[in-house]
Amino acid sequence: MLDKKELDKFNQGHLVEFEKLMSSNEKAQLNDKVKSLDLEQIQNLYQSLYVNKKVIEDVSSVQEVKYERKADFSQQMLESYEQQGIQAIKNGKFAVVLMAGGQGTRLGYKGPKGSFEIENVSLFELQAKQLLDLQAKTGTTVDWYIMTSNINDRETRLFFEDKSYFGYDSDHVHFFIQDNVVALSEEGKLVLDVNGKILETPNGNGGIFKSLEKAGYLADMSAAGIEYIFLNNIDNVLVKVLDPAFAGYVDAHGKDVSTKSIQPKKGESVGRLVNVDHKDTVYEYSELSEDTANEINNANIGIHAFKLSFIKNVVDRDLPYHLAVKNLKQLDEDFGVIEQPTLKFELFYFDIFKYANSFITLQVDRDEEFSPLKNKEGKDSVETATQDLKRMNIIK
Ligand code: UTP
Repeated sequence: MLDKKELDKFNQGHLVEFEKLMSSNEKAQLNDKVKSLDLEQIQNLYQSLYVNKKVIEDVSSVQEVKYERKADFSQQMLESYEQQGIQAIKNGKFAVVLMAGGQGTRLGYKGPKGSFEIENVSLFELQAKQLLDLQAKTGTTVDWYIMTSNINDRETRLFFEDKSYFGYDSDHVHFFIQDNVVALSEEGKLVLDVNGKILETPNGNGGIFKSLEKAGYLADMSAAGIEYIFLNNIDNVLVKVLDPAFAGYVDAHGKDVSTKSIQPKKGESVGRLVNVDHKDTVYEYSELSEDTANEINNANIGIHAFKLSFIKNVVDRDLPYHLAVKNLKQLDEDFGVIEQPTLKFELFYFDIFKYANSFITLQVDRDEEFSPLKNKEGKDSVETATQDLKRMNIIK
């Protein structure tokens, strides 16, 4: 039985009411789960991220990151980077890691976002095809690590099996699951998911490093002689997965963190890549004043390469949680299913940058490399993604 007095200390006394409506099995599960949680820490997160929302950071020292524009490179330089990239890939220096654990709430599609199809081609297939092309070009089958979450892991694996891994060698495709963290109501209370269990959500894309480690994949990469992890997300339909020119650029400079960026449009609400206190980092558009945001020349598009040795050194370090409010399905006090704004705690992968010592950024052409699929309609939607894929002749 739950201890109401104890729970009340942490704003969770309401769970006792839920417990009354449960079968003995469900009660046992709820009790075990509640025991496993650090309720004090959860309340602290709630207080610091929601009730006493983060004081605006001092952004007076925000500077432009050091960057180069791909458009400024001569043909000869481009070819040279490309050659170096092909050689580095042939030498087995790169692994590719895909972040596909998100919930895709804005798109509102039921399955894993990667299984979403545009003109019969799924987002996973768009990326698999590029690795197949790379294999043809280099004779190397790059290992592909795909981060899923509890909400989509099974379906993602089944989707790959059903599609015969799009012709890629399944021995070189490795799935791993990111961790979960509890979600809270806007009153800071734990809520139940539609199965009557404490609602948890994926812990944000920053869960990637610890989850790779936990799955044993950082050790596997080291053993295989990997030097760089190329990272990208699932929903940029124009992403170039480990394009040789970027691979060569990364290999030639050998920095802890290499980043691709684009020139943001005025007022565009995309994270800005900035340098603060000699470290590159990403600020959400909302964290900067409009004027500062508009002065910054680089927007983050979630495409990076990390030195494996850097990641291995810092993987145990903590990353801070951020707060997102998303519409999530849950049970109300009468056990009816409702959907309402819910507090979701997320780690961001770019918070790892603060532990890095060297950075480099390559600004690329937005029209060629950036078209995110986020929404059902309007901006960054199925319609814009379809147009861009056709414009680039990726689909007919
Ligand atoms: P987004 O921040 O767009 O989140 O993810 P999302 O969950 O996919 O979509 P919305 O906000 O609910 O509509 C950017 C990238 O980070 C991955 C996503 O899969 C996407 O590739 N991601 C996000 C994870 O892998 N895990 C997470 O917990 C969150």
